[in-house]
Amino acid sequence: MKTQLITTINDLIAYKNKLTKNSSIGFVPTMGYLHKGHLSLIEASKQNNACTFVSIFVNPTQFGPNEDFEQYPRDLQKDFKLCEENGVDIVFAPQASEIYHNTDEIAILPPKNMAYVYEGFIREGHFEGVLQIVLKLFNLIYPTNAYFGQKDAQQLLLIQRLVLDLFLPINIIPCPTQRDIDGLALSSRNIYLNKEERQNAIKIPLALKHISDSIKKGENKTSILIKSAKTILEGLDIEYFDICDYNLTPLSKVQKNKSLALLAAKAGKTRLIDNLWI
Ligand code: PAF
Repeated sequence: MKTQLITTINDLIAYKNKLTKNSSIGFVPTMGYLHKGHLSLIEASKQNNACTFVSIFVNPTQFGPNEDFEQYPRDLQKDFKLCEENGVDIVFAPQASEIYHNTDEIAILPPKNMAYVYEGFIREGHFEGVLQIVLKLFNLIYPTNAYFGQKDAQQLLLIQRLVLDLFLPINIIPCPTQRDIDGLALSSRNIYLNKEERQNAIKIPLALKHISDSIKKGENKTSILIKSAKTILEGLDIEYFDICDYNLTPLSKVQKNKSLALLAAKAGKTRLIDNLWI
């Protein structure tokens, strides 16, 4: 079937009404500038659903006043072509005025211990914005399965809580982080990196690998793991680097299958995040 571009809520609802009842919908929410990471989510959705929806929307409410909302890379034409090539059924790419009607809208208050630490501490209000847009999109699309990358670990854990706490009948499917050949986690923001910054950026996956190797060798004290991995990160400006559980509570000892190493660092002006599910 041909990929359709939908930009209004009316057209989205009209399309949904035409779908056969009970046909499963896979949903991949994105902010566009699609890369192989997004394509792996689309692929996962295609394998398990009758119909795949991709949203492309640079959501203003999840950017702080000093963040890169205006500069965030956008290329709808290229994104649409990639969606066509990868068998997406619907690309939903609304204008902000279609999604936000009021300047002061009802929003969700995420759990304090999960949303105001790490990414949420640095990016004030970020997760309120993420949960607001994700809930709006869920309410419009009502997918059977929704696909999220493990690279945005804190976002993924919060969306799992959103679905759990608000009894949303949607399966959240975590998908593994996709990496470039040099190990750097794929991100739309990687295009900002110059050669030297990229050289420094690839120290991030190396530091995470160091943690994984040290755990395999028997080290489980998080302070020791972080201290030795930090020595690899010279040249980067570390914002946070810690090991926590899935409620984002810092741990003193690693617990297998229950821990997460989270790292955010700047290479030049570009913020990069990465993590290790332990
Ligand atoms: O991960 C992203 O790209 C965004 O945070 C999301 C989930 C599409 C919400 O705007």
